[in-house]
Amino acid sequence: MSLAQYRPIVWEADHLILLDQRYLPVKEDFITAKTIEDAFTAIKDMVVRGAPCIGFTGIYGLALWIKSQDTLVKQELIAAGEYLKSSRPTAVNLMYEVDRAVDYANSMLQGKKSKEEIYKSIIQFGHDQITSLEKKNQKMADYAAEELKKIYGDRPLRLMTHCNTGFLACGCIGTALGVISNYNKLGKVEQVWVDETRPYLQGTRLTAFELTKEKIPFKIVVEGAASYLMKNKKVDAIFVGADRIVANGDTANKIGTSTLSIVAKHYGIPFFVVAPLSSFDTSLPDGTHIEIEMRPDDEITHFRGQQVGPYGAQTENPSFDVTDHTMITGIICENGIIRPENKNHLLEVVKA
Ligand code: MRU
Repeated sequence: MSLAQYRPIVWEADHLILLDQRYLPVKEDFITAKTIEDAFTAIKDMVVRGAPCIGFTGIYGLALWIKSQDTLVKQELIAAGEYLKSSRPTAVNLMYEVDRAVDYANSMLQGKKSKEEIYKSIIQFGHDQITSLEKKNQKMADYAAEELKKIYGDRPLRLMTHCNTGFLACGCIGTALGVISNYNKLGKVEQVWVDETRPYLQGTRLTAFELTKEKIPFKIVVEGAASYLMKNKKVDAIFVGADRIVANGDTANKIGTSTLSIVAKHYGIPFFVVAPLSSFDTSLPDGTHIEIEMRPDDEITHFRGQQVGPYGAQTENPSFDVTDHTMITGIICENGIIRPENKNHLLEVVKA
């Protein structure tokens, strides 16, 4: 099957079909979400993951809630949105999409639209958001291609990435992985270094799966290999996604991203964050204000249900870290490339 057939989110008649990303690529399974609780659990348990896709699931989760109501009440609509937003705390896309869906539903409610009309409009809103992200992703890929050409000319490059930011995370082209896929289509990717991304292995399981489907040459590496590879001049540039970018350019992304950025800075390797404006939260002044999701112990002490650490061992399992803006060469969004070293540039580009 081609990658396009592995759609992570599909709305069918009156329910949501989600590709169960927990078992990919070994098992290709789907779950059906018929209620808002199903959508909440699918986000929390990471059946569906990646900042944009959890946002889209939030929209469809709200549609499922609307369908279940006899009559719509504004306060209950807002509470349903708050419930969905509490499923995962770090990726602001979830809050962005759900807030917009709630506002839209509420404006229709105030306009005396029927429950059926509101339900259908929210489903359509979900579809539209995915389509619109696809166009934005392509713009980001084009900006990145121009930037790489400026730095390296036409020579094929060795690009590194972390976590999974492709089709499975976005439901369309992808952010950082979209950049890499686009550059490969231009014939300019020599090889991709895929960080395995512990403990959930989004790199090994999902990014490597996507690159295999797209026939892009890659090698999986353990995260500890980053310094070795960079010191030995085997990496030309690094592209990662984002879960929340705040006003000064500090960026929350999958745990391990910050370490990668610091090593890249040390060796003078360009480090880019690629994310749509729905990943920006300019209400927060800097990264110290971002809530970091803590995940369960057994993601570290066990592997696929098999115990690997000592019985009763405690863990610290932050799922994200914050990359300081001073480590970032550029943040690529649909409005262009933000240079975080220029104070205020982020706010100028975001408002453009
Ligand atoms: O915990 P996950 O798998 O949802 O984390 C995903 C990431 O950190 C991605 O890098 C980020 O959401 C960007 S997705 C385009």
